[in-house]
Amino acid sequence: MSQDELHKGEAAQAWDTYWEGAGDSSAFTSGGAGHPGFQAFWSDAFGEYFKQHPGARTLDIGTGSGAVIEYLSLVPGAQLDKVSCVDIAEDAVNGVQDRFPAVTGVVADANQIPLEPGSFDLVTSQFGVEYAGPGAIDEAIRLLAPGGHLIFLLHFQGGALHQSCQATLDALQRVQKVDFFALTTAFLTAGFAAVRGADRGPYDSAAKQLNPAIKELESILSQHGEGVADRTIEYLYSTLQNIHSRIEHYDADEVLNWLAAMEQELPKYLQRMESMHRSVLNKAAIEGIRTMLANKGLPQNQAQPLLFEGDPLPFAWVLQASNAQA
Ligand SMILES: C[S@@+](CC[C@H](N)C(=O)[O-])C[C@H]1O[C@@H](n2cnc3c(N)ncnc32)[C@H](O)[C@@H]1O
Repeated sequence: MSQDELHKGEAAQAWDTYWEGAGDSSAFTSGGAGHPGFQAFWSDAFGEYFKQHPGARTLDIGTGSGAVIEYLSLVPGAQLDKVSCVDIAEDAVNGVQDRFPAVTGVVADANQIPLEPGSFDLVTSQFGVEYAGPGAIDEAIRLLAPGGHLIFLLHFQGGALHQSCQATLDALQRVQKVDFFALTTAFLTAGFAAVRGADRGPYDSAAKQLNPAIKELESILSQHGEGVADRTIEYLYSTLQNIHSRIEHYDADEVLNWLAAMEQELPKYLQRMESMHRSVLNKAAIEGIRTMLANKGLPQNQAQPLLFEGDPLPFAWVLQASNAQA
């Protein structure tokens, strides 16, 4: 198995477990788009398109929690029973179908989508196709009907989301490196034992051993800000402070289970961020995709950075293309 295939497999698994726990692990981000500007973008793009093409058959690739489908559901002229979505993570597709039962869900690698050629008038993707690689662009083209249209938002190298992904990667790697979870587990286990009347010595010595890891969390927060890693570092830091200052009021099993769940989730969060980091596209990669589109019958394609008011950094590449064979 090549490095690329290995990464893809790991990332797919990490996304699968993310969507499986999406309802109750809001501390861990999708690496997607929370900025209200995304809704404004899709509302304009869909509004325009569906005015001219009411009832267009639409496919969303790498749908995740169905953010794009949610925007689509608000647009006059869109019919959800003509909408399909694809994701490699089964739980993502199930989640979208629970929310939008009229939508057809397909669990598949975007490089090989088991649907008929030319089945869609509109193919969309918001931070989806680039995770699967260039084969997913080929698939999108294959599935596009004559006269069809593509709208992709793609990760922008050096953009706002990429920078936040890099800060998150740095933060999570540093938490792992200082052995935060093992040291905190030892510290709290000794703390709860001391509350139950055991000797305080082990608690004090575990506190000393944990101290450098706490300093590292402080350093991460001061370097990247409290919002880093979707506030996970700040959450760990302040929760631990609270428990430490009032440990006698906490239930040992509950706290240690919480800590174990956070420890288990961290490597998966790291994998998702690594997969996002690998999927970002620079200008040359975007030009490569545009050439590929042109060579496959979509010469009228354009790509530009997506900027939101008040932020100097782009949030995405907007890539749009129409199939000229109408
Ligand atoms: C960053 S999330 C974006 C989700 C959603 N479009 C959004 O904007 O919130 C990337 C999605 O791509 C999916 N994905 C990753 N690799 C894929 C592949 N090879 N084929 C299909 N989907 C894939 C993941 O499961 C995940 O749901």
